[in-house]
Amino acid sequence: MLFQGTEPNPKMSPISLGIGEPRHPTPAWLKEHLLGAFDALASYPPTAGDLSLRQACANWLKSRYKLNLDPKDQILPITGSREGLFSIAQTVVNNPKINDPKANKPYVVLPNPFYQIYEGAAILAGATPYYVPSIPEKNFAMDWASVPTEVWQNTQLLYVCSPGNPTGAEVTLSEWEMLFKLSDEFGFVIASDECYSEIYFRSTPPLGSLEAAEKLARHDFKNLLAFTSLSKRSNMPGLRSGFVAGQRELIKSFLLYRTYHGSAMSGMVQAASVAAWNDEAHVVANRALYREKFADVTPMLAEVMDVRLPDAGFYLWAAVPEINGVRDDEAFAKALLAQYNVTVLPGSYLAREAQGFNPGAGRIRMALVAETQECVQAAQRMVQFIQNN
Ligand SMILES: Cc1ncc(COP(=O)(O)O)c(C=O)c1O
Repeated sequence: MLFQGTEPNPKMSPISLGIGEPRHPTPAWLKEHLLGAFDALASYPPTAGDLSLRQACANWLKSRYKLNLDPKDQILPITGSREGLFSIAQTVVNNPKINDPKANKPYVVLPNPFYQIYEGAAILAGATPYYVPSIPEKNFAMDWASVPTEVWQNTQLLYVCSPGNPTGAEVTLSEWEMLFKLSDEFGFVIASDECYSEIYFRSTPPLGSLEAAEKLARHDFKNLLAFTSLSKRSNMPGLRSGFVAGQRELIKSFLLYRTYHGSAMSGMVQAASVAAWNDEAHVVANRALYREKFADVTPMLAEVMDVRLPDAGFYLWAAVPEINGVRDDEAFAKALLAQYNVTVLPGSYLAREAQGFNPGAGRIRMALVAETQECVQAAQRMVQFIQNN
C-alpha cells in the first residue's frame, strides 16, 4: 500500500486532499422530500423509474443544454454514475444487438489517467482496455489520434470523461466531432462521464456530449450516452442517484440489461432526486464555494509548482517539483505526509503505464473538497514543504 510504513507527522493535524468525495453539506431541505416518500418502500420501483423523475431530468437537460430529450425513451435513472458507467460495458460489449460479438479481440478505449471503474468494467465485460494518454501541452486532452486503426476496428465502447478526473479538462466541440466521426466509421458506442459538469470556473459552463451532438446536427445522438449524477452537483454522494440519456436504441438495450441487473432506484431516492434536479439555487451556491476555494488555493501553489486553475471539477492536477533532487510523485506524496501530515494522491496511481510511459507520473492530484480554511492550510503546508526540501 502507498503509505504503508510512512509515519504522518504527529505534531500536525491530518488534512486529506486524497479522496474525491464531496464534503460540502447536503442541502437539508432535500431531507423532507426523501422522508415524505416513505410509503414508496412498500412496492418494487420500476427499473425505468417514475416518469416524474425522467421528466425532471429532461427539464434539467433543457435548461442546462437547451436539449429536448423524450423522458419516455431517451432517459433512465442510474444509481450513481459509477453504477451506470460500470453496467453500460456489460450491456454493450459483445451484445449482438449493438456490436459484432465475433470481433476477435474487443477493446474498450479509455482515457489515461482515468476513473478506475472504466477499466474494471471493461475487463469484467470480457474486453481489453486500451489506454489513451493525456497530453499536458494540449490542456490535458487525450491523444485520440495515437490510437492505431486496428484498435479502433475492434473497439466496442469508448469512455470519455468531461470534465475530466483528475485533469479537470473539458472536451471541446472539435474533439467531439472527431470522436463522433470515429464512432460512425468503426461503430463503437461512446459513454460520456459528465458527473463534474456543474463545478466550473469560467462564465461558460462545460459543453455536454449531447449538446455537442446536437450542435453537430446529430439529433438522434447516434451511438452516444451521457452519464451524470447528483453526487457532486448537489453534494449527495450517499443518495446514489443519477441518470443516463442519449440514443433511443441504446437506452432500450440498457433498460433490458438493467431489468436483469436489478438496479432500480428506490422511490424515496427518486422523490429526493426530482426535488434536486428541479432546483438550481443550491447548485449555484455550491459552485460559488468551489470558486472561492480554488481562487484562494491555486495561486498559492502556483508559486511553488506547475499548477493552474482547471476548466472544471474539484481537483488540482499538478506537476511535482524535485524533492531532494528527484521528481517523483510517490516520493513527494510520502514525504509530504511524513513532514506535514497532508495526504495527496500520486498521479501514477491514477494512470497505467501504456505505450511505454505512465502519463500520471510526476504529478499529484489534490481534491479540494474540504472547507476553504482547511484547503488553504494544506496549501500553506505544501508551500513550506516544497521550499524546505
Ligand atoms: C470521473 C468520475 N466518474 C464517476 C464517478 C462516480 O460518481 P457517482 O457514482 O457518485 O455519480 C466519480 C466519483 O468520484 C468520478 O470521479
